Amino acid sequence: MKNTQDRLVFRPDLLKGRTALITGASSGIGQGIAEVFGMLGANLVIIGRDNEKLNQAADELRETGAEVLALSADVRDYESTQEVIKKTLETFGALDILINNAAGNFHCPFEQLSPNGWKAVVDIDLNGTFNYCHAAFAALKQSDYGGRIINISLAQVISGWPGSAHAASAKAGVTTLTRSLAVEWGPYGIRVNNVLPGPIENTEGVRRLYEARGEAEKEKNRMALGVFGEKDDIAQACVFLVSSAGQFITGSDLTVDGGRWLKRSWT
Ligand code: COA
Repeated sequence: MKNTQDRLVFRPDLLKGRTALITGASSGIGQGIAEVFGMLGANLVIIGRDNEKLNQAADELRETGAEVLALSADVRDYESTQEVIKKTLETFGALDILINNAAGNFHCPFEQLSPNGWKAVVDIDLNGTFNYCHAAFAALKQSDYGGRIINISLAQVISGWPGSAHAASAKAGVTTLTRSLAVEWGPYGIRVNNVLPGPIENTEGVRRLYEARGEAEKEKNRMALGVFGEKDDIAQACVFLVSSAGQFITGSDLTVDGGRWLKRSWT
């Protein structure tokens, strides 16, 4: 497999001058989005809960030449969200792109799920997305490029997700929040879309939901393409949406899942 740089199809200065804030960016899909956005010239604001992991991710991103502001915060805490936006504006002078990627998930049959387990996932996935959209609105409205929001959701919001009812339910809220904001904020030039990833290699999601349960090969067999995706499959889909190629797209779902939802609906 080629490395990330070789797989990029966009011109290297595509996002130059733009500031992108990515939640849950110290690992997994969020870190992959930050890496690709940085390679395309964006100023990066990366958010994560674990300070050590976050700083390590920031150092790695800086090695690729990116300008990075790393802020440790929990997306569940609205006050810290406001502080993050303030520091973003102080550092880079603008906020143009918001990627709500931070998520929590674990496999747990519903009857064994505690109220607090349910709440933790809904708070991170849905309320965390509310917090950042709400706090970022004024800044996104001012963006010279037209503000962009991408919410990372799931195709399972249609099918439901036995064993992950908490995540599917929270992401269903995210999906409809996206559509509501696309209409409310269209007049301000803010485009709001969902990206729906399938299982992505080298992520905590795949590790805990499939590999740790000995389900990885079975899951691949349930996918039309028969392989897990790479982090930059999601990152490049996000680049497309925030670039001028995506300027007429708002309120949409872009499914990047190797045909997972479709094959599962047939088998
Ligand atoms: N099965 C059942 N319940 C679980 C669980 C599991 N595997 N993991 C956590 N929980 C429950 C806990 O028992 C707790 O409930 P309780 O107080 O009734 O015992 C509740 O969830 C909160 O757990 P806690 O670890 O205190 O929450 P947290 O806020 O530190 O972490 C999580 C949030 C639970 C979502 C955690 O898994 C996380 O931080 N995930 C982020 C990374 C991730 O999920 N990546 C994959 C994304 S696809």
